[in-house]
Amino acid sequence: MSNLDGKAVVVTGAGRGLGRAFAVHAARAGAAVVVNDVDVELAYDVVGVIGEDGGCAVPSGHSVADPAQAAAIVDLCVKEYGTIDGLVNNAGLNYEALPWEEDLDQARELIEVNVLGVVHTGVAAVRAMVERGGGAIVNVSSGASLGQRKLGVYAASKGAVASLTYSWALDLEDSGIRVNAVCPLAHTRMVRKSERALRDCPPDRTPDRIAPLVLYLLSDRAQGITGQMIRCNGPQLHIVGQPHLKQPILERETWDARSVERAFDEVFHAHLENYGLEKRVPPRLREWLAPSAAG
Ligand SMILES: NC(=O)c1ccc[n+]([C@@H]2O[C@H](COP(=O)([O-])OP(=O)(O)OC[C@H]3O[C@@H](n4cnc5c(N)ncnc54)[C@H](O)[C@@H]3O)[C@@H](O)[C@H]2O)c1
Repeated sequence: MSNLDGKAVVVTGAGRGLGRAFAVHAARAGAAVVVNDVDVELAYDVVGVIGEDGGCAVPSGHSVADPAQAAAIVDLCVKEYGTIDGLVNNAGLNYEALPWEEDLDQARELIEVNVLGVVHTGVAAVRAMVERGGGAIVNVSSGASLGQRKLGVYAASKGAVASLTYSWALDLEDSGIRVNAVCPLAHTRMVRKSERALRDCPPDRTPDRIAPLVLYLLSDRAQGITGQMIRCNGPQLHIVGQPHLKQPILERETWDARSVERAFDEVFHAHLENYGLEKRVPPRLREWLAPSAAG
């Protein structure tokens, strides 16, 4: 259904897992694909698989974390295929740590790939797409962006990807460039590293099951769809709601310590939000929901 005939598409982090599935399926749908991965041998393998399938692909071993290398990925696409129609910002790192156990070098490395990598490759692609008068960018965020235990830095990086998606969609609509994000769940190396993730993600949740969504967003069939975050975990497909300014919005000339406290005691206590992907009830509300609070 998602015809990518004649399109040139870059998929970052495409040597394994989700990126590999996105690249292989995009080639099957007719796209010429730049298969990027720092693990360059894997990128070559995927290019081989696409070639055996009758598709068209070139490998790139550049790192999205480096601005010059990220630009080189896009340049390679334009040099090989004359243009860039689509970009899937998929390359990503992940680790679990409680806040007091964070290794700050590891945190920086993750942000450099998951956030700056999307910025570096995205900016290079947008410059080329503006010149050609349009294109489609699919960023890979995560349900973790809503907040998840032991995943603070990873969650923050994916929240940043969501914010970038909404902002770029606003900036680029007039240039004919659509920017959306997906929140996948699939059995990959990333999931296999975590006992908890493995429990939520059995082996039948293959990356192939997420590819049709990404291909649709890359294709012209998705005209008019931009600024959206869409989650697919295998069986379920849905739009992720966006944060908004919540009513009631209280007004005072100035807010002092006393009026802030009154706002919480008298108004906001009834409007607190359940938080995190697990929708944890905040303690002050929990007091009221406990059976012992009745009467
Ligand atoms: N697997 C899931 O359930 C899941 C859930 C939510 C989001 N995601 C996101 O999906 C994307 C793909 O994840 P995956 O599960 O396939 O992970 P994966 O670890 O299997 O694959 C990620 C790939 O990115 C490559 N990569 C890492 N740093 C890079 C860099 N600097 N430049 C280029 N390539 C680089 C790796 O070599 C690897 O091949 C990631 O952004 C991840 O955060 C995955």
